[in-house]
Amino acid sequence: MQDKRKILLIFGTRPEAIKMAPLVRELQADARFEAKVAVTAQHREMLDQVMECFGISADYDLNMMRHGQTLADITGRALTGLQAIIAEEKPDVVLVHGDTTTTFAGALAAFYEQTPVGHIEAGLRTGDKYAPYPEEINRRLTGVLTDYHFAPTETARQNLLAAGVPDANIYVTGNTVIDALLQTVASGCDLTGYVGGGVDWSKRILLLTCHRRENWGEPMRQIFGAVRRLADEFAGDLEIICPVHKNPLVREAAAEFLSDVPNVHLIEPLEYRPFSKLMSLSYLVVTDSGGMQEEAPALGKPVLVLREVTERPEAIAAGTAKLIGNEGESVYRGIKELLTDEAAYHAMAHAANPYGDGHAVERICDILARVL
Ligand code: UD1
Ligand code: UDP
Repeated sequence: MQDKRKILLIFGTRPEAIKMAPLVRELQADARFEAKVAVTAQHREMLDQVMECFGISADYDLNMMRHGQTLADITGRALTGLQAIIAEEKPDVVLVHGDTTTTFAGALAAFYEQTPVGHIEAGLRTGDKYAPYPEEINRRLTGVLTDYHFAPTETARQNLLAAGVPDANIYVTGNTVIDALLQTVASGCDLTGYVGGGVDWSKRILLLTCHRRENWGEPMRQIFGAVRRLADEFAGDLEIICPVHKNPLVREAAAEFLSDVPNVHLIEPLEYRPFSKLMSLSYLVVTDSGGMQEEAPALGKPVLVLREVTERPEAIAAGTAKLIGNEGESVYRGIKELLTDEAAYHAMAHAANPYGDGHAVERICDILARVL
């Protein structure tokens, strides 16, 4: 019988952890593999929430997060720390996920150790170097270092082919976020105690998140300003719930524009289980998040995207997502349309699952067992 294949999974931020957690669990339960986890902890509290929610733990924790950390700073520290772990563990493959700085540093560290790289959620592209920033380039650079490209969709596969990746190295698996979401929503959750007592649940719920680097500063002020206008205008009929990212820059902008509005609820980042429940109870999702563009359509929720371009065009093609940009007037108009035009709302409010069927993790495990 063949020895167990040794896998090292590397991640560091909330979205990577959510999307890697089902894979960690499956690999650790599968007798064909010995799977270990190294986290950079580029995020701290927001990462720990996810680890706890999915009941997974790290074999290595670089505990990297600092307030005010810069891109070069995270890249340098992650690279040095991860290379030492890979050198010690000598895995058959390193798995990284997505497009963060941890992703790129993990793939580069593996390359320096001449260890094969598997990239989960490979092949997403906007074609714009600075949007999302720095994620578009992190994903492209990771692609250059990757041996096994796990593309979530056919569009992602085509992007990889266009980048010169051999077809034989690309595997279309679906996105593991759908595995995570379906497992979590199915297990249910009571929101009491998470969202606070002030929300009138008989009103329409707008779920808002905003954190992207390209929205820091003036765009974020414009976005939150537009949300404030809408909160006032629709006060009789709308509750806005905004779990605020831990980044102090985001928190300052949210507090400045939204802290004293009675029907806007600024809350701490939610654990994944209550968060997915909240998504399922929402009337409308407004976000610049990558992952929520994948989750909201699966739950039948229209999603308005606070960006000019997206690397996730599938939900737009399916009619459940729409780009509304990050300028005050376009954000205001985009949200107002869905709050006032029932036909426009219902045209977007249908379940679509262009990102996966909830079985991505099984496919990835079977492929790893075959190729390693
Ligand atoms: C990072 C990723 C981004 C991803 C996002 C998900 C990069 C360059 N960016 O952006 O792709 O979409 O995570 O949220 O990899 N902080 C805390 N506690 C936490 C997490 C963050 O206090 O648990 C604060 C810290 O002050 C930290 C700051 O947020 O310095 C920014 O974190 P960082 O990981 O550098 O950037 P994000 O904007 O979170
Ligand atoms: N999320 C969460 N709690 C929150 C906000 C978001 O669990 O308070 C989840 C959300 O469901 C999605 C992921 O975090 O799976 C998105 O993370 P984020 O927006 O930070 O990063 P991105 O997807 O933009 O990279």
